[in-house]
Amino acid sequence: MTFPRNPKAVLVTGGAGFIGSNFIRSLFKNELFKGVVVNLDCLTYAGNLENLEEVERDFGGERYFFEKAGINDRDLLEQIFDRHGIDAVVHFAAESHVDRSIHGPGEFIQTNIVGTFSMLETARAAWNDRRDVVFYHISTDEVYGSLGDEGHFFENTPYAPNSPYSASKASADHLVRAYFHTYGLPVVISNCSNNYGPYQFPEKLIPLMILNALEGKHLPIYGDGKNVRDWLFVEDHCSAINRILMYGEAGETYNIGGENERQNIDIVHRICEILQENCPPEKNDAFGQNGIRHYRDLIVYVKDRPGHDRRYAVNCDKLKESLGWSPSLTFEEGLRLTVRWYLDHEDWVRHIRTGEYSSWLDKNYGKR
Ligand code: NAD
Ligand code: DAU
Repeated sequence: MTFPRNPKAVLVTGGAGFIGSNFIRSLFKNELFKGVVVNLDCLTYAGNLENLEEVERDFGGERYFFEKAGINDRDLLEQIFDRHGIDAVVHFAAESHVDRSIHGPGEFIQTNIVGTFSMLETARAAWNDRRDVVFYHISTDEVYGSLGDEGHFFENTPYAPNSPYSASKASADHLVRAYFHTYGLPVVISNCSNNYGPYQFPEKLIPLMILNALEGKHLPIYGDGKNVRDWLFVEDHCSAINRILMYGEAGETYNIGGENERQNIDIVHRICEILQENCPPEKNDAFGQNGIRHYRDLIVYVKDRPGHDRRYAVNCDKLKESLGWSPSLTFEEGLRLTVRWYLDHEDWVRHIRTGEYSSWLDKNYGKR
């Protein structure tokens, strides 16, 4: 294998979601990449083609193709591999929210485990024929479990997932690894920490807090609010994925993290302060006469998430040293940019909050 690996046709699964859509945008900005992108997404509640409007406008029908399909549809996957000559898969498609996995784990097993198996089988069949396929699996630091006050996750930290979500991602990682060792399918895996930034569905901590605050709703903090996550701006995650796709060694795992450990409560306070500067409650119509003078007065402590991991912290020296990656933004810069993005994208927010994006889809893509 020579590097950079330069795929001609990349199949991105889950490309209409938060990280997938940011990744597709970043791939078209990658000067090394001259190929086509096929975005395969079945558009669950988390998939939104509005995230890719400008990609569709600039590259649609020439270098960008959308396929509305599930990753368990093997026949269609085979057709897509053949039709486009897929030589790289970047597999994002997943059920991604821990709280949902606690309330309904079944979907997580079907999509994250069985769906990954189906993607691997399709890639293996193509690779057996053509020997030119690489399978890149996007995974999470949550597979490593929970840390105490000290220490970091390394690539060789034993897996110890604690939620149905992280257990399903861990299972998928093991399958991907097994396809390398058993069948020789060239695979790479990356395990990333918490992402935030534009286009994130407002069920995750940061966008939920921004939008709840702007709407004058409570800001629910689980437990004591002192759980720690390691935050990475989504575009920095995407720059890491681009590097790994082009230069990552087959069979290797790379950790990706922001080296930005924060307690949840500190993040929510910081969001409240940024909103206070940018859109003070007295100028926000949602507040009416409810007497709230500062966004932080909306904070409420609620019952803890069952099995709530205490702390995540990722060591990503391997990625930095072997592939020369580093993040471009500090957490403060990324958070300000994110708050600004949600303030500036009222239509996107309204469509997501009201479910209008389904009708936007019908209007722009026809009924499916
Ligand atoms: P997301 O929930 O925003 O998007 C998931 C996408 O997958 C959606 O577009 C959805 O429609 C699609 N999808 C779901 N089931 C599908 C199926 N059966 N067939 C086809 N498409 C399907 O998720 P995200 O936050 O963008 O995460 C993307 C990937 O990155 C996931 O694999 C997740 O585990 C991983 N990851 C996420 C984070 C994070 O902080 N969000 C961090 C590390 C790793
Ligand atoms: O670490 C990577 C993982 O990060 C990804 O694999 C997952 O796909 C992604 O969802 C994320 O998982 P978390 O559970 O860490 O993210 P979430 O935004 O749901 O929660 C972040 C922290 O904030 C967590 O400690 C729980 C807490 N929280 C979350 C919500 C939604 C609250 O206190 N209140 C809330 O309302």
